[in-house]
Amino acid sequence: MRLVRFDAVKSTNDTALEMARRGEPEGTVVIAGHQTKGRGRRGRSWWGAPGESLFMSVILRPDLPAEEFCRLSFVASLAVAEHLSCEHTLDARVKWPNDVLIDGRKIAGILVETTHAAGQRAAVVGIGVNVNQRSFPPELADLATSVMLETGSEVDVERIAQALAETIFAYYEQYIANGFEEILNRWRKYMWGIGRQAEVRMEGRVLRGAISGVDSTGALVIRDDSGREHTIVSADSITF
Ligand code: BTN
Repeated sequence: MRLVRFDAVKSTNDTALEMARRGEPEGTVVIAGHQTKGRGRRGRSWWGAPGESLFMSVILRPDLPAEEFCRLSFVASLAVAEHLSCEHTLDARVKWPNDVLIDGRKIAGILVETTHAAGQRAAVVGIGVNVNQRSFPPELADLATSVMLETGSEVDVERIAQALAETIFAYYEQYIANGFEEILNRWRKYMWGIGRQAEVRMEGRVLRGAISGVDSTGALVIRDDSGREHTIVSADSITF
């Protein structure tokens, strides 16, 4: 593991992708104190005031089929949820596919991106954690939280970065050595929303039903009112 630190970058995912294209090895972790153009999933932006958030991107080069690279987000969200639960005694939950929530409010997000350019096949796992925010902009105030707001104490962002990077690598190695099932079984223990009624929006249609869990590939399983089960591989949003 090699941690590379920047004061500010556009997006740690961009920096890590660029480094991966230039041949940077697996195990490189890019950390920045600030992002000027942080990205979330589905083209959304990712907010974070300088010095208050963890912005981190991990370069991995798994020998997996390309369609399985997205499973790395389960590795990362599991690591974040476990870290927040064990080290900060928070009741952290993972909302499918990879948000981390405390009492329904988002504390961390994961964005996995890949590159296949210049013969360099790599995945970049981007992790954003709200650490020391004491408040959020009005539009996020009801939706987001931070370690500081939940525990009342300021936390060393660097320490979280180091600990999280180690946990991510440990679970990544476990995944590569033993397969996805062990990771998924651990992830399921943190899953948010089982049994809850949810509205899933995807490609112009809406599906309503109760969340049953995830299948062996990590797809979301929902049971509609008629009892029919639907398997969802990707969704625009899930609301409860
Ligand atoms: C989401 O919930 O939509 C995913 C958010 C991912 C944010 C992290 S912060 C570090 C890395 N760099 C980015 O630009 N995005 C990810």
